[in-house]
Amino acid sequence: MLMPGGPRITFAVMPQAPVRRAWETHPQGIIPRVLTQAEVAVSGMHPLLERRVAHLAGRIAAKFALVHHLRTHGHPLEARDIGITQRMAGPEEGRPVAQLPAGVPSCDLSITHSHGLAVAAATGRGRIGIDLERASPRSSALIEEAFTQVEQDWLSRCELLHDRTSDERWNLGWCIKEALVKCTGHGLRASLQHVTFSGWTDQGAVSVPLPALTDEAGALARCITLHTPRTSSAPLTGLLALGRGYAFAALHDLSEDGAT
Ligand SMILES: CC(C)(COP(=O)(O)OP(=O)(O)OC[C@H]1O[C@@H](n2cnc3c(N)ncnc32)[C@H](O)[C@@H]1OP(=O)(O)O)[C@@H](O)C(=O)NCCC(=O)NCCS
Repeated sequence: MLMPGGPRITFAVMPQAPVRRAWETHPQGIIPRVLTQAEVAVSGMHPLLERRVAHLAGRIAAKFALVHHLRTHGHPLEARDIGITQRMAGPEEGRPVAQLPAGVPSCDLSITHSHGLAVAAATGRGRIGIDLERASPRSSALIEEAFTQVEQDWLSRCELLHDRTSDERWNLGWCIKEALVKCTGHGLRASLQHVTFSGWTDQGAVSVPLPALTDEAGALARCITLHTPRTSSAPLTGLLALGRGYAFAALHDLSEDGAT
């Protein structure tokens, strides 16, 4: 999809159930077709099966997003031509990194997984951060801890969210914060209230094919420009989605274009 005024973002969704079946019963199936031995070995290090499957599904979604994105831009690579590693230290520890063959322009990517789904996003410009959450109840203590008063007021009064449930509203707010920290890399280990927004400008509905998320009647999918205290000139653009019991946010930062 095209963010308003921005370059193309490619999303891919991977349900975790087939990945789990493949891991348990089809060792020659999708996993080795898409992931390198090193990537499978890293996923295999997670002691909990659930975490291992989520990690594998996230990596598979990331490969699909990258392959599709690069093909659209004239670089017809196969999934195993691409490597996915992660920052091993520093403030961005854990951030996924795409390793592309020489001559292929760099891409930024982001991965999220929650309750049986994994989603990845890839872009050739700037930095991307995404987050997916099940729209489940959040305690008032957690809301107080995570959101500033300005954010609480915005999320409670925002016209776009009037007909949505409060679970959807708070989880969407949570997704925005997680997407923000993943996108900027700043404040990952800071207090949740240090990663702030004061609202957004709605850029309109968007038809975005996110299977298992936005493919139901009544799903919300809107492009936005997020208002943050940043002083940089480039606006942070994004996608907000609610559907099938999930909340999802993607934020795209063009101010650090080329910095990835
Ligand atoms: C990085 C973080 C935001 C991930 O969020 P999460 O909801 O726990 O998990 P998600 O499934 O959405 O995302 C996990 C993916 O984020 C990515 N990630 C991890 N560290 C990252 C970083 N520093 N920057 C960008 N992406 C990162 C990884 O790809 C990871 O998946 P993987 O381990 O399978 O590779 C979270 O673990 C974290 O450190 N939070 C700090 C607390 C905070 O400020 N939260 C804001 C909440 S309002």
